[in-house]
Amino acid sequence: MPDTATLHDEIRTLARERDAIILAHNYQRGEVQDVADFTGDSLGLSRQASETSAQTIVFAGVHFMAETAKILSPDKTVLLPELSAGCPMADMMTADELATWREAHPGIPVVTYVNSSADVKALSDVCVTSANAVAVVRSLGADRILFGPDRNLGSWVARALPEVEVLLWEGFCPTHERVTPEQIAEARKRHPDAEVMAHPECRPDVVDLADFVLSTSQMLRRAADSPADEFIVVTEEGLLHALAKAAPGKRFVNLEPRMICRNMKVTTLEKVRDVLRDGTNEIVVPEDVRERALTAVQRMVAID
Ligand code: 13P
Ligand code: SF4
Repeated sequence: MPDTATLHDEIRTLARERDAIILAHNYQRGEVQDVADFTGDSLGLSRQASETSAQTIVFAGVHFMAETAKILSPDKTVLLPELSAGCPMADMMTADELATWREAHPGIPVVTYVNSSADVKALSDVCVTSANAVAVVRSLGADRILFGPDRNLGSWVARALPEVEVLLWEGFCPTHERVTPEQIAEARKRHPDAEVMAHPECRPDVVDLADFVLSTSQMLRRAADSPADEFIVVTEEGLLHALAKAAPGKRFVNLEPRMICRNMKVTTLEKVRDVLRDGTNEIVVPEDVRERALTAVQRMVAID
């Protein structure tokens, strides 16, 4: 089996030959993050996908991220190195379910987390990411919204904007939902001087115990800017690789047991190389779905 440096060289050469850009989410394996042109959170990567001049986008992430890239950049070829990399939370709300929910609440704006299928986005008024959910909902000026699929991110929005009634879909991220307040208390006991950064996909009783509630890239910025030297990182453990690069010399601890999203880990360097070499695993979004999803996704990338 070739070593990491050899695979990196091979991938960089193939990317040049194919006029490809490699985007990697902050939860990807460290060696995959290291070969990417850009790493980031869902919002940052969506913006990269919409702005690139490269002909091909290789998305080291999960399916909805590659679909979002295709919605924004229909003329590009979008390749997903491992097609089975899904998001269990995105699967918790189908387009049929959303259509029924929407019909039961006529006139109420549908706000959808980017962790959702293209079909679901096509039935949505606006999409959000963890980085801008509160700002996007505030910008609507609505007094009631439907929010899905993540009940935890929806609860976070509801608490930030008490003037808005947020009707929640009951989806969640299995990796973040597992975290308990007891685990945070235990980690604080072991690291009393650490700052606690939690992702808004965590349960409200966990978010309550955090010093900061942030998207993954916001955590990278906070770690670099904060006066603290130690951080308890309450999100998927792949971010620790990015944190070590963003704030060298600082200490980062994940919870015990570590938080791992299997879907984010199925992408390997070999699979990135294979799709670049063979042009396989192309993501296709039917044009009528893409057109209906586009406005919601464009509104998402426009707001900070
Ligand atoms: P962000 O990187 O946008 O915070 O998203 C977290 C996540 O769970 C992506 O699946
Ligand atoms: Fe989905 Fe959670 Fe994995 Fe993100 S970390 S892809 S929300 S299951």
